Amino acid sequence: MSAKLKLGVLISGRGSNLQSLIDATQDDSFPAEIVSVISNVPDVAGLDRAAKVDIPTSVINHKDFSGREPFEDALHEALTEAGVELVCLAGFMRILTDGFVSRWLDKMINIHPSLLPSFKGLHTHERAIEAGVRFSGCTIHFVRPEMDDGPIIAQAAVPIRQDDSPDTLAGRVLVEEHKIYPLAVKMIAEGRVSITGSRVIVSNAVNPDSTTINPA
Ligand code: GRF
Repeated sequence: MSAKLKLGVLISGRGSNLQSLIDATQDDSFPAEIVSVISNVPDVAGLDRAAKVDIPTSVINHKDFSGREPFEDALHEALTEAGVELVCLAGFMRILTDGFVSRWLDKMINIHPSLLPSFKGLHTHERAIEAGVRFSGCTIHFVRPEMDDGPIIAQAAVPIRQDDSPDTLAGRVLVEEHKIYPLAVKMIAEGRVSITGSRVIVSNAVNPDSTTINPA
């Protein structure tokens, strides 16, 4: 069997998306493995999730650095030392500079809890409900210098209910996040993902025929 793609996962908190990747990688047939989990915030739950399954963890606290660049140099060094081939941002709450993004261009992906390009930034569920859109969802995309921007690899659409609160909607979107993150990583690790301009082409992709209308 060919070598597995080496993942570095960057987190800042709870780490439920990290957990979805850990769970996927527990399957021997999954084509990627997590070689490093780095948090910029000490003592977060995500670090315990990784430690529990003996994945090397480290804390690189942005507060210990004089600015973004030295912080990112430390991140870059840790990722490189661990042999990381694909960086997975999973609830990593620091804005990355153009310099760091270019060093990992096409080798860094992010999950965002909306159907991009709608609702970039924070408080996505509240804003989607407020805007009256009938669907929200989540997106996995390659990272580009502009925040929550970049070629889209996979999305899941989640119908918004009339009585949704930001929390109830967030809960249903999170269930889908945990499906599409491992899916996107798998497709990349299988070498099926290529970028053409601002589009991602997935070879042998299966696109569903069904559509969803909301309200039905
Ligand atoms: C997720 O909703 C993700 O989409 C967003 O931050 C949240 C992180 O959650 N970028 P978790 O730490 O993975 O549980």
